[in-house]
Amino acid sequence: MKLLILGGTQFVGRHLVEAALARGHDLTLFNRGRTAGALFPQLERRRGDRRLDLSALAEGQWDAVLDCCGYLPREVEASAALLAGRVGRYLYISSISAYASFATPNDEGSPLGVLSDPATEVVDGASYGPLKAACEAPVRRHLGPDRALILRPGLVVGPHDPTQRFSYWPARVARARDAEPVLVPGRADDALQGIDARDLAAFALDALERGLGGTFNVVSGPGQWRRGALLQACAAAAGVAPRWAWADEAWLQAAQVKPWTELPLWLPAQGEYAAFMHTATERALAAGLRIRPLAETVADTLAWWRGLPEGEQGFSKAGLSPAREAELLARLLS
Ligand SMILES: NC(=O)c1ccc[n+]([C@@H]2O[C@H](COP(=O)([O-])OP(=O)(O)OC[C@H]3O[C@@H](n4cnc5c(N)ncnc54)[C@H](OP(=O)(O)O)[C@@H]3O)[C@@H](O)[C@H]2O)c1
Repeated sequence: MKLLILGGTQFVGRHLVEAALARGHDLTLFNRGRTAGALFPQLERRRGDRRLDLSALAEGQWDAVLDCCGYLPREVEASAALLAGRVGRYLYISSISAYASFATPNDEGSPLGVLSDPATEVVDGASYGPLKAACEAPVRRHLGPDRALILRPGLVVGPHDPTQRFSYWPARVARARDAEPVLVPGRADDALQGIDARDLAAFALDALERGLGGTFNVVSGPGQWRRGALLQACAAAAGVAPRWAWADEAWLQAAQVKPWTELPLWLPAQGEYAAFMHTATERALAAGLRIRPLAETVADTLAWWRGLPEGEQGFSKAGLSPAREAELLARLLS
């Protein structure tokens, strides 16, 4: 297939490019050239900032466009309108954050979030999900139900993840010595959900190759990943045997530990995000979604992390600093 990728050089897009190349597809990349500009020198490049100028895409025909960097409805409206007549399919990477509520499990028919200010261009924790929901609409409107392919990934994980959330766990555990306490939230049987970016890429390309349209949650099945299994996989990948210092939800909340950011992959079991990691995946499974073993995702993430330059191995965006963890452990274990 001839594929046009909007983005393609960071994380989700990068894995899409690598997988598409491995399958022998013919690729064109459109981006600004700011992120990893030297990647994929063999590919045709179109340059532009999608928020300002799509003239580099004025010509060309593709079997599909894969939109991996759409955050504002107006930018997706512009690209969908421009390309609808010259692409077979429009694959938009949305998010499960698009749903209106996470108090109960969502399937693809659940209500979507609505922006309190439809004109906002501020992408933050509150607006990100409703903005992704609003970005889906122009894809469906311009392409129609059969040619619009909307993927809603859960937490995307694996090598090249710039968010540091999932990576925190393999990297933190690998830093531990045998028997050293590592602060871990909740319980071993907590259900977690995520999607290895390589499994997301494989599902996306399978769907395009088979000519699928429609909307799919793309994430591991509810309960397929558990916190205890994640920690065991981290310890096995690093060859260490730390001591898990379990902190329950009430203790963490009393200590004002921030869910999701300070302790990634931890969300209180009660409250507005109670079902964030219980999203239904039957539709994607029926369409062929495959989830690789968690141990493989963990080991590959750790190997990638260890290969980063030393200056990039900190946790500025997510995770506990060693000092904060030590302070919390001192209180927990006293
Ligand atoms: N991470 C998660 O857990 C998660 C979960 C669910 C969904 N998602 C979705 O997955 C996607 C993230 O993919 P990602 O991490 O690979 O990419 P990203 O950070 O959204 O985008 C990076 C890529 O897009 C290009 N780009 C960014 N802004 C651009 C602009 N204004 N014009 C043209 N190109 C632009 C960048 O290249 P240049 O800088 O060179 O332009 C780079 O190739 C997003 O759509 C996100 O909503 C992520």
